[in-house]
Amino acid sequence: MKMPQITLPDGESVPAYGQGTWHMGENRGRRAEEVAALKLGIELGITLIDTAEMYGNGVAEEIVAEAIKGRRDKLFIVSKVLPYNSSQKGTIEACERSLKRLKTDRIDLYLLHWRGSHPFAETLAGFERLQRDGKIRHHGVSNFDRGDMEEWTRLDGGKAVASNQILYNLTRRGPEFDLIPWCRQKTISIMAYSPIEQGRMLGHKALGEVATRHGAAPAQVALAWLLRQDGMMVIPKASRQQHVRENLGALDLKLTDQDLADLDHAFPPPKGRTSLGML
Ligand SMILES: NC(=O)c1ccc[n+]([C@@H]2O[C@H](COP(=O)([O-])OP(=O)(O)OC[C@H]3O[C@@H](n4cnc5c(N)ncnc54)[C@H](OP(=O)(O)O)[C@@H]3O)[C@@H](O)[C@H]2O)c1
Repeated sequence: MKMPQITLPDGESVPAYGQGTWHMGENRGRRAEEVAALKLGIELGITLIDTAEMYGNGVAEEIVAEAIKGRRDKLFIVSKVLPYNSSQKGTIEACERSLKRLKTDRIDLYLLHWRGSHPFAETLAGFERLQRDGKIRHHGVSNFDRGDMEEWTRLDGGKAVASNQILYNLTRRGPEFDLIPWCRQKTISIMAYSPIEQGRMLGHKALGEVATRHGAAPAQVALAWLLRQDGMMVIPKASRQQHVRENLGALDLKLTDQDLADLDHAFPPPKGRTSLGML
């Protein structure tokens, strides 16, 4: 299996496919299953993991630490600072707590989870300090609409933003109108979160019809539809091993022009600007 890659603005290649971890660490009884799913993904070649200090109140990061033990060096770890913590000092301290939970000395990509009340310049100053100290390798943002992106990239050093992680999938095509083209033009990668709409889209008739034509699963079609786009990363979350395996099958699925036309018909692209959704 060949893992697709995207290129960050500084030229580094990063896997376009990763594993999400939201809701991991919320139920102690499921911990072993969650660790096992992440480990399986790594064994199958998924080297990017997305987590956040928010998930499971820090426990998701501990679960990631358990899953990546002994294999840190080949992995690309993404984590996020909560807006409430995103003052300059707060960002640095939050990152240090995440590093402890993750049992690592660096986070590959560190994101502001969503816009809060701390000035962007403060968060960015925190990111830059962390980068100088080798505690993070890249920084970026999440849930940023076009206006937020413009504001962030106007700051000194703001153009180094590596990625914007946003809610984007077949049923949430709003960002195609101007946010995604704007980011693409600036070579800022998009990381599509909730790429299968947390499972809610999987019963959709049109998705099922395209899947049937390929002998594929609906989730594979939804992921392949995202992965075919330039500069697009996807981070489906799966705590069941069968879901980890099934989702990876998206990498072998090539959608035809007919499939894409049918999907456009069922999930029409936006005709105008809408504000960015968030889960
Ligand atoms: N930046 C942000 O604000 C933000 C917001 C939301 C999410 N995220 C990130 O993006 C990741 C993905 O988003 P998400 O977790 O919201 O939603 P998602 O990946 O679209 O869906 C996850 C859900 O779908 C189920 N699932 C996975 N594969 C499946 C399959 N092949 N067939 C049927 N069901 C399947 C999972 O079940 P099981 O777990 O039982 O396998 C889980 O309940 C998150 O985990 C998180 O890392 C970021």
